[in-house]
Amino acid sequence: SGGDCPGLNAAIRGVAKAALNKYGMKVIGIMDGFRGLVENRTVLLDDKVVSGILNLGGTFLGTSRDKPQKMPMGGKKLDMTETAVQNLRKLQIDCLVCLGGGGTQKNALHLQKAGGVNVLTLPKTIDNDVAGTDTSFGFDTAMGIGAEAIDRLHTTATSHHRIIVCEVMGHNAGWLTLGAGIAGGADVILIPEIPYDLNAVAEHLLERRRSGKRFSIVAVAEGAISKEEARAREKAEKELERKSEKKDKKGRRKEKAGDDEPDGLNLVTEPMASRLARDLQRLTDTEARVTSLGHVQRGGSPSATDRLLCTLLGTKAAELLAAGSYNVMVAVRSNEAVPVALEKVAGLRKIVPADHDWIKAARMVDTCMGDHA
Ligand code: F6P
Repeated sequence: SGGDCPGLNAAIRGVAKAALNKYGMKVIGIMDGFRGLVENRTVLLDDKVVSGILNLGGTFLGTSRDKPQKMPMGGKKLDMTETAVQNLRKLQIDCLVCLGGGGTQKNALHLQKAGGVNVLTLPKTIDNDVAGTDTSFGFDTAMGIGAEAIDRLHTTATSHHRIIVCEVMGHNAGWLTLGAGIAGGADVILIPEIPYDLNAVAEHLLERRRSGKRFSIVAVAEGAISKEEARAREKAEKELERKSEKKDKKGRRKEKAGDDEPDGLNLVTEPMASRLARDLQRLTDTEARVTSLGHVQRGGSPSATDRLLCTLLGTKAAELLAAGSYNVMVAVRSNEAVPVALEKVAGLRKIVPADHDWIKAARMVDTCMGDHA
């Protein structure tokens, strides 16, 4: 469920092969995430179906961003939880395995709480922002693609003495940009966790030029914001909180924190990197160009590290299913797959802490993080 990523097929294969061959279970695949569950679209997974898919990108089951409790149906958003639960009962499913990011963890917990369904989840997202786990599958592949793109931008930026601003995905977390930026040797890395000061960035670029470096690469997270935008957002959030508290007192529904999975229809906007490139070109009097990596980072074959991770997590999931250990997420802790209570991770988001070693390392190699530190 949610946005696809490299490694989904490998994870489905891991769960299914171990469940079928080691534990003799029956495995049913659900098409297109929670939408397929509500619409009762399933496929029986036998060994043949899940063979030969380890290295394939995307997911052969399909996916969607729909959630059971707010499903777009005939122009309206309906609560289809009851239908989803009934369909699971009809199929005699003992446990629903959900592969997804932060939103999926919440939706799985919702099915468990509202419908008494047994669930088990795996952390999947290129954003690496699922709480309670060291990493999520898809992240390593996307970071590798980002680093390679930044490598390639270096040679053309050098030849033309340009600034190239490269926008990296990651939703509201900076892991992907930070990892790809450090690995690709970006000169400036801007992440949502550190609101940037445009003048500090421009000054860093000018300083590079003064020292004889005639090009610069800026890696910017799609969710990065300037200091001014951060202040305005904080003000707006406080106002919203005040209003929703008022509403709450009147007994109406209060908006839940973390209810912000990207809404497919609202994402066609100008890449924020374009605005940034325009400003930097003006402030540094240096020609600037923009590259937005976008969905390229989510496509194609998973890295060896992700294939390994998916197999580890998938087979651990089967082991937990066999033991009847439900309502957990299979997390990665110090390279081991371990169960953590879903209740403890659903609704939380893992962002880059200000004192994270990656930030420290980036600063030590003279990378500008958008501030004056
Ligand atoms: O959550 C994964 C992710 O790729 C984010 O990095 C990005 O913001 C979003 O999904 C894009 O969503 P969509 O594929 O729906 O456009």
